[in-house]
Amino acid sequence: MKIVAFETQEQTVRVSWDDGRTEAFHHLWLRDHGASEGELHASTGERVVDFHSIPRDVRPLELGLEPDGRLRIAWSDGRETRHEGDWLRAQVYRGKDVNPEIAVPEPWRADMLERLTRFDYGQVVESEATQLQFLRRFLRDGFALLTGAPAREGEVERLAGRLGYLREICFGRLRDIRVEPSAYNIAFTDDVVRPHTDLANYAWPPGVQFLHCLVQEATGGDTRLVDGLAAAEQLRAEDPEAFQALTRVEVGFQIANDRYDVRTAAPVLTVGAEGGFRMIRFSNQARRAFSCPPELVEPFYRGYHRLSALLNDPGYQIHFRLAPGEILAMNNHRVLHARDAFDGGSGRRHLQIGSMEMDEILSRLRMLEKKVNDTGARISA
Ligand SMILES: [Fe+2]
Repeated sequence: MKIVAFETQEQTVRVSWDDGRTEAFHHLWLRDHGASEGELHASTGERVVDFHSIPRDVRPLELGLEPDGRLRIAWSDGRETRHEGDWLRAQVYRGKDVNPEIAVPEPWRADMLERLTRFDYGQVVESEATQLQFLRRFLRDGFALLTGAPAREGEVERLAGRLGYLREICFGRLRDIRVEPSAYNIAFTDDVVRPHTDLANYAWPPGVQFLHCLVQEATGGDTRLVDGLAAAEQLRAEDPEAFQALTRVEVGFQIANDRYDVRTAAPVLTVGAEGGFRMIRFSNQARRAFSCPPELVEPFYRGYHRLSALLNDPGYQIHFRLAPGEILAMNNHRVLHARDAFDGGSGRRHLQIGSMEMDEILSRLRMLEKKVNDTGARISA
């Protein structure tokens, strides 16, 4: 996008593009974001100028357009910066913590089931084009389903290896979900497991969980998913004070056995600097005591009560049965999963879980997107 006009004002430079839009950028911001010769490392491109060496009251002395369309500014500290029109435009303030680079999440409720599609596992592993589609869907919906994976142990590791790196946690690299005689976690029983996010007891719960179905012979044990983003936004619309209390009260979460004791205290809802939804941490089974300023107790419980009801409302959930060879990828900071009770005496049920960080997924997505952009949408298919 081409810069067509610019104007210096008291604290800002107003920039106009060829589509008629005008935005103002603060002087110091422009100077800071326009590192000039010697201020970036010659080979890595990393910033090497110390910020405090730039005068806080730095001012533009002279502005002009370069032949290539970049905005050139000569500054009062003797430096020059050059900004590209496209780059500047991409920085325009959007508010609400929206990162324009990342697919915009679309909240969903029970009718998502009608749109539920399954990606072919082999295609996602082998084809970058299909993998890109899969990752975009995953970011939009907060989950995605794969079908046709080998129903063998360790397959999640192979999938994760195509996308990035597994994150190890106290349970190990991969965790087996099946009935265990000395269960310390409700997942290892045949009881119902209500909607929850995994590993809420970690200061930073893994952002991505892969749930791989190996054996599904028992009666019952169906999977339910619910969009924590949809439920949280509903609560915010109904009761902003209660929503805010859920972002302020730090609740204890713990998972422990005779080998480890991992616990933390964190809010049920995390928002960005301007209130945009970032994370839900909801695990009734791992929830422990909390204490907070007295005035927050009532709004916290009001909000938690309503949120719990929304998350368990069938109108917000999708319900399906995982088959052997299916892998459910979940954004563990957004989508909650649940399991119906099953009859452990009626047959075996065995799943494996592996964790990743969302950073790895986003990195992979960027690399695939770059290939698309650089090659005119011709990536290996
Ligand atoms: Fe879980």
